[in-house]
Amino acid sequence: MTPAAPTGRLAVFPGSFDPLTNGHVDIILRSAHLFEHVIVAVLVNAEKQPLFTPAERVTIIHEVFREYPNVEVDTFDGLLVDYARRRRASALVRGLRAVSDFEYEFQMALMNRHLEPTLETVFMMPAEQYTYLSSRLIKEVFKLGGEVRGLVPPAVEQWLRRKQEAGVVQ
Ligand code: PNS
Repeated sequence: MTPAAPTGRLAVFPGSFDPLTNGHVDIILRSAHLFEHVIVAVLVNAEKQPLFTPAERVTIIHEVFREYPNVEVDTFDGLLVDYARRRRASALVRGLRAVSDFEYEFQMALMNRHLEPTLETVFMMPAEQYTYLSSRLIKEVFKLGGEVRGLVPPAVEQWLRRKQEAGVVQ
């Protein structure tokens, strides 16, 4: 892959996105306003048994952001700072939902800064209605027959139903 041209306004929003929630969408839209270019970077091989394959997650995110030319979707493996360096990113974006996120995010931000001091982590808060949302809860609620409409983009709902029909979500 050819590295992107150096820019002071390129951000990477990394995550598992298994699946993308409206909380993620909120953070991506806020980032797309703040940065020239945002790369939504899907971690490959994070969970041993993800519901969606990395390719499916990329397809879904593409579908949701197809009308946003400054939002790119990619996958990465290995150290996040190595990926960010290759892409010439100047910032990492992470969402902070509640105080309970803080400890883990603080550790990650400082470790990433130790590994790459020029890379800043920028924290953003999603809209209040998404502060309790997580991909894990979405999967659990959907699996147990609960309503996830309004919590995930329609494309994710369709994909969840597709997985259910295929017998993957039981
Ligand atoms: O959405 P998630 O699952 O909380 O995202 C976690 C993620 C992907 C940001 C984190 O696990 C990560 O960066 N993994 C890549 C490996 C790495 O760089 N580890 C050191 C981080 S301090």
